[in-house]
Amino acid sequence: MSIISKDIAKAVQLLNDEHIVAIPTETVYGLAGNIYSPKAITAIFETKKRPFFNPLIVHIPAIEQLTTIVAHIPPKAQLLAKAFWPGPITLVLEKQDHIPDLITGGKPTVAVRIPNHPVTLSLLNALDFPLAAPSANPFSSISPTTAQHVENYFKDQIPMVLDGGPCRSGIESTIIGFENDEPIIYRLGSTALEDIEAVVGPVTVKNTVKQKTEEAPTAPGMLDRHYAPKTTTLLSNNLLESLDQHANKRVGLLVFKTQISHSAVKTQVVLSENGDLNEATAHLYEALHQLDQENLDLIIAEEFPDYGLGKSINDRLTRATKS
Ligand code: TXA
Ligand code: MG
Repeated sequence: MSIISKDIAKAVQLLNDEHIVAIPTETVYGLAGNIYSPKAITAIFETKKRPFFNPLIVHIPAIEQLTTIVAHIPPKAQLLAKAFWPGPITLVLEKQDHIPDLITGGKPTVAVRIPNHPVTLSLLNALDFPLAAPSANPFSSISPTTAQHVENYFKDQIPMVLDGGPCRSGIESTIIGFENDEPIIYRLGSTALEDIEAVVGPVTVKNTVKQKTEEAPTAPGMLDRHYAPKTTTLLSNNLLESLDQHANKRVGLLVFKTQISHSAVKTQVVLSENGDLNEATAHLYEALHQLDQENLDLIIAEEFPDYGLGKSINDRLTRATKS
């Protein structure tokens, strides 16, 4: 038995025994449990300190299982599932009665996706229930993109982190709901808006960065202060001007492709020297984790171009600036 399959076997055992396990996906690490175990699901919410009204994503290994979870599949949901699964798109659809309210925050809908990660696909195939898994971070903090990030957050609180290496996509899945069978983007994410529109035509994007953390979100996933470093963070479309304004501070800079020289800059991370948005997305959270550990007064992040994954990055950086 190889090491990885031994680890998967251990995760299977723990999950069958109603424990929770951190699992790798292509987007971020998740904190997973059996969707039918109130004990496991409660442990997920308590470990994350997440309010119960904020529902979880159900992870399945194959498209055929969708019909056992949801009551209705709009034609455009079918097209999106076929085009992008396994992959970073989550579909919010009308739920079947047996899906517990604890998973959906009492809503009539359930969020579902097939993650594109070989380790977690093997794990899901070895289980006879789907896994509910929110991102494996305390509520409102930066999502983990390595097993080490999860260890740093929850070392002694969870029995196992299943290590599948660094996450390739690097930010969460794009969440799509339906109104009158028409798709609406609830959360921008690892699948670019343009790629989605190429499959189903024009799609409405809910203006997401609005609501306060204390309120139940109308379209959850949309809580305002989210994905946030502890260090004060600001988003800038003019780095030199912003740096001049904070010249007396110890600033950490997060830039897209080109280093900036300025006396206030104590440390800086370039996300992609080649200007590749996929690469920048993959490194975004790692960079925020890193800058957040350097005892800075301020993180200044460069605003990204407003297309493709640049839109999704700007969404996360905007949320990171809320306090
Ligand atoms: O990439 C991802 O989506 C990762 C990996 C682990 O799969 N998961 C993730 O889960 O980001 P989480 O819980 O951090 O974010 C899922 C969001 C939540 O903010 C929740 O509000 C929203 O999905 N959501 C879940 N069920 C929903 C529903 N029925 N209606 C609207 N939004 C829903
Ligand atoms: Mg999350």
